[in-house]
Amino acid sequence: MEKISLIFEEDSAKTPSQTSHQTAHKLRHGENRVVSIEKLDLEERSEISLRPSIWGDYIGQERVKKNLEIAILGAKKRGECLMHTLLFGPPGLGKTTLSHIIAHEMNAAIKVTAAPMIERAGDLAAILTNLQEGEILFIDEIHRLSPAIEEMLYPAMEDFRLDIITGSGPAAQTIKIDLPRFMLIGATTRAGMLSHPLRDRFGMDFRLQFYDTSELAQIIAKAAQKLGKQIAKNASDEIAARSRGTPRIALRLLRRIRDFSDVREEEEISLETTKCALEELGVNALGFDALDLRYLRAIAQAKKPIGLNTIAAIISEDEETIQDVIEPYLLAQGFLERSARGRIATAKTYELLHLQNPQLF
Ligand SMILES: Nc1ncnc2c1ncn2[C@@H]1O[C@H](COP(=O)(O)OP(=O)(O)O)[C@@H](O)[C@H]1O
Ligand SMILES: [Mg+2]
Repeated sequence: MEKISLIFEEDSAKTPSQTSHQTAHKLRHGENRVVSIEKLDLEERSEISLRPSIWGDYIGQERVKKNLEIAILGAKKRGECLMHTLLFGPPGLGKTTLSHIIAHEMNAAIKVTAAPMIERAGDLAAILTNLQEGEILFIDEIHRLSPAIEEMLYPAMEDFRLDIITGSGPAAQTIKIDLPRFMLIGATTRAGMLSHPLRDRFGMDFRLQFYDTSELAQIIAKAAQKLGKQIAKNASDEIAARSRGTPRIALRLLRRIRDFSDVREEEEISLETTKCALEELGVNALGFDALDLRYLRAIAQAKKPIGLNTIAAIISEDEETIQDVIEPYLLAQGFLERSARGRIATAKTYELLHLQNPQLF
């Protein structure tokens, strides 16, 4: 809260209502703007042309889709914003995509930002006061908001009001700024890391699931069509089976495999080229890459429950990547169990790695 008082210092001699008005005006017009509402994710940029923008192209997640469709219909009938919505699930399952589809369906503009970009109270104030009535604010990685920023978000979510404290000590004043009614979509890879008060303020929450191979095969086929490249059915099935249940991975593999196919001057991506390319890319039959295998080897060789920090040290990978990217799929596939004492390999893991299962002796 200290920094915001610096930003608004010059206003401190004026009456609260004047100050609040001028502050809101300033923020809305971009002065004191400390953050740009933009996500710097190069990969997502390159995927942009493959990102579906309508329900018809959004494959799978049927339960989520059905619930959202009903909520959207209801909200539109009443001419209201949709309730604040929380989306969670591992990276690449379609949280950002879903948010854009919601915006499209609601005929609303969407502003995209990410929690690490909202460092100070002024950052959030600038974003919120720049919103227009009915707009959607998408905050990615929302579990990373600092407690102070979270607290500022509560009245904004509940009452569409921003409470800003200016000055300090006995001279401190709270300025209340009315905000337009907006919809917040929060996305997170870790529902568990979200504070309860924040979670409670979302009217809806949805967990995205890993996709099955037939859904991924459809996503691949549609994407190939958009890329103007034909693909054999058994080739798209093969990619689907090795994409760790994740559309982003499926699309990344498709792009790489298309290169191999183009070099071979194939008219249609063949199964043979696909297998060859996947081998070159170091993706095994289960879709595991070298990092997954290093992880599995680390937990298998420990022969007893092992802590996250120990695994991180063994495979020299940071804990966050392990938790967000590596573990969810291995857990879902039964290659790993988690208990209070740590992570432990399963019979499936020992079999995959051709190691003896210590539990059998
Ligand atoms: N249900 C889906 N149907 C089709 N394509 C999808 C679907 N979900 C995700 N994708 C594709 O996968 C890519 C990654 O999705 P994204 O929404 O960025 O994931 P997240 O935000 O959860 O990390 C997108 O570019 C999009 O093209
Ligand atoms: Mg995203």
